[in-house]
Amino acid sequence: MKKLKGALIGCGFFAENHILAWKELRNIEIICVCDLDIKKANKFKSKFNILHSYSSIELMLKKHKIDFVDVVTTMETHLNIGKILSKYKIPTSIQKPFAENLLNAKKIVSLYKKNKTPLMVHENFRWQSPLLKLKEIINKEKLIKPHYAKISFRHANPVGYTNQTYLYDLKEYLTLDVGIHLFDLSRFLMGEAKSIYTVNQNTNNKFKGETDFISLIRNKNKSITIVDASISSIKKPDRFAQTLVNLEFSNGSIDLDYNYKIILHKNNKKKIYDGKPKKYKWISKPWDQIQESVINTHKHFIYSLINRVKHDTSGEDNIKSLSLVFNSYKSDKLRKEIKI
Ligand SMILES: NC(=O)c1ccc[n+]([C@@H]2O[C@H](COP(=O)([O-])OP(=O)(O)OC[C@H]3O[C@@H](n4cnc5c(N)ncnc54)[C@H](O)[C@@H]3O)[C@@H](O)[C@H]2O)c1
Repeated sequence: MKKLKGALIGCGFFAENHILAWKELRNIEIICVCDLDIKKANKFKSKFNILHSYSSIELMLKKHKIDFVDVVTTMETHLNIGKILSKYKIPTSIQKPFAENLLNAKKIVSLYKKNKTPLMVHENFRWQSPLLKLKEIINKEKLIKPHYAKISFRHANPVGYTNQTYLYDLKEYLTLDVGIHLFDLSRFLMGEAKSIYTVNQNTNNKFKGETDFISLIRNKNKSITIVDASISSIKKPDRFAQTLVNLEFSNGSIDLDYNYKIILHKNNKKKIYDGKPKKYKWISKPWDQIQESVINTHKHFIYSLINRVKHDTSGEDNIKSLSLVFNSYKSDKLRKEIKI
């Protein structure tokens, strides 16, 4: 197979996981990095042994033949970056949150559609090994007719936000930053949503936005999902960055518990599985399952490009998860259930 040459845009905090994950894939080489701050781009280039660094995306694209781009910048930059990349017809993977509102997300999707260029949102929670294992067991054990799901992300570990200080000033914080992943997981496990009802709280005054939320989702298949998240949930050991899940079906139930333990209850029996993420040298707790999922997400991006199939988390698909986020805020504000 021909080696694919990629570029990475945005050399900040999370980009280090992206580049280390790219290095785990065969037949892929990131040949350029780009950051508005050239010092950051240069430092990243030397730290990770990349050939070229730029501060202008257009200049980079004019100088090199690039097969795909991985965008690791924050949401408010995505429309402008998407305008450039779609104009050059460069297949793109773009970090979540996809955009700061639905209108901009739809604009990005239509730009790529118009230019017949693949676009994937780097929605990585559904690519975490414990979640993939959970889904695999549901299918293998033929658990059917789901009626209940609880998807929970509660911790009190500041490592979840101290590297991303831009989060403090967001008027909308936890739902947009983490809820987006959890709503996507609800769609992944329970199917599409019909409505959402949410109550937000602020439990940490460093933040302008909500630091705790509880959402109740009615799904099209008549099941209900409870999604909840908090950065003020004190436990020993702390639970960052594990998503805990409880699912009930007509013929059994399954839980993804602390420490990646998966427990199946079916036919009056209990079975225990291990959903631990794979180990790599550069991966460590508490980010391990998130770091590993970046490799799996990159693999899905490349696999779908090579096989010319739509990405599971294409831009179009991610609008459905993003729509849950903005309707969640609307529900909290209006104190009512909102139809999706
Ligand atoms: N999926 C996950 O698990 C996960 C975890 C952490 C962060 N993230 C997401 O990753 C994204 C990046 O987060 P971060 O903390 O690394 O941000 P960051 O602010 O540390 O880095 C972003 C970088 O992008 C650069 N940039 C902005 N606009 C640019 C442009 N037009 N051209 C070139 N460079 C540009 C900035 O100069 C900055 O260096 C965010 O959207 C965040 O939500 C995802």
